[in-house]
Amino acid sequence: MYKIIEDVFTLKRLIKDESKLLPEYVPPSLPHREEHLRRLAEIFKIVIETKGKTFQKAMLTGETGTGKTAVAKRFGQSVIDYATHKGLKLKYIHINCHKDRTLFLITRKMVQEICPELPKRGFSPFELLAMIHDYLNSHTMHAIITLDEADFLIPKSGEDLIYDLIRLADEKLNEPQRISIILISRKTNILYELDKTTVSTLLHNTIRFEPYTSTQLRDILNARIIETFYPGVVSEEAIELISDMVSAPYESGHRGDARYALGLLWKAAKIAERLNAIRVLPEHVRMARAEGTISIEDIQNLQLHEKLILLSVAKALRKKQTAYITMGEVEDEYIQLCALWSQDPRKHTQVYMYIQNLKNIGVINTKISGSGYRGKTTLIGLVDAPAEAIEKELIKIITNEVNKQVTRGRRLDKH
Ligand SMILES: Nc1ncnc2c1ncn2[C@@H]1O[C@H](COP(=O)(O)OP(=O)(O)O)[C@@H](O)[C@H]1O
Ligand SMILES: [Mg+2]
Repeated sequence: MYKIIEDVFTLKRLIKDESKLLPEYVPPSLPHREEHLRRLAEIFKIVIETKGKTFQKAMLTGETGTGKTAVAKRFGQSVIDYATHKGLKLKYIHINCHKDRTLFLITRKMVQEICPELPKRGFSPFELLAMIHDYLNSHTMHAIITLDEADFLIPKSGEDLIYDLIRLADEKLNEPQRISIILISRKTNILYELDKTTVSTLLHNTIRFEPYTSTQLRDILNARIIETFYPGVVSEEAIELISDMVSAPYESGHRGDARYALGLLWKAAKIAERLNAIRVLPEHVRMARAEGTISIEDIQNLQLHEKLILLSVAKALRKKQTAYITMGEVEDEYIQLCALWSQDPRKHTQVYMYIQNLKNIGVINTKISGSGYRGKTTLIGLVDAPAEAIEKELIKIITNEVNKQVTRGRRLDKH
């Protein structure tokens, strides 16, 4: 009896509110990003001053985990409150272009958020954009659209997405321009396709996000710990270790990345709970690091065939027990997996594109083969997570997605 009671009382005495560690949670304060927020407000001041009749374009750049998304979302929430207070009808729409990769999906999302009562079916993206514009005009509204992870737009689709969005606003020169844009991307080179004036505005309004230093990470972790954990549960040494590890010069993939730091903290806490520890200690951090941290969110956002390819990589690596496998080996595995889930395998060039995309988001790494291989071939490895863990997670997610496809198919058959 005593044991049961002790178990209940001691278990889960660490994490008070797990939701505060989820990647989509935006904390009320963003230490060391006050200046970035201020700069964004300065850029958009004119929109509020002209009661939404002028538009702005801004760009946020920096490596993963430097707070770009958090700052944009926090800005969006605050600016809406302020605008409402000033009697201006303003909408803030945050679009993740990694998830919604085509102009079609983006404009559909915009209609959903700005004017859900309008029909979406049967219109081209351009017609939808025009409808949104007319709607904003007739309702004297303004919309700030954030295109987050914009790196995924241009190189892939071949359509000049951002250009189309911006041009639509520019073409209506004689009318108030009611759509503002915030572009978020890792690099500024996504701008190369845009016209000169747009590029120069965007470069002028670019806010750079530098990787966090050890002390900055410590402040971020401490603030989050107060929201998430019971008091005194995370040891100072554990916080110090995470901040130092993530900001260390030898840390190649995630240097200064707050998401990675928070992920390590969350994982260390989980390990501590599993071991029935009463505090999160450096040892738990080391164990967390050894387990690797690839986020489930990253995997879920992938397209079905990217998931299948990633699963092929994990499977082939586990079977072969090597650090790298060849493109051919991945494709063999992929074809088998497609058969298993009754999917048509994609062609070689498309598979290659998917591999590049997986590399872009940092799940896999690739290199060209050296000696020991006939000819030159692309070698593929997993960046930072054990193959087995990825495999398990992917099998769950893919099965789920394919089942949904089947149910949807049946529903359509009935109509
Ligand atoms: N200054 C900060 N204060 C508190 N949390 C932060 C800060 N910067 C980033 N984070 C957190 O770190 C994670 C990654 O930040 P995010 O804004 O998604 O980075 P990015 O968009 O640049 O990749 C999120 O969970 C976010 O809440
Ligand atoms: Mg982001």
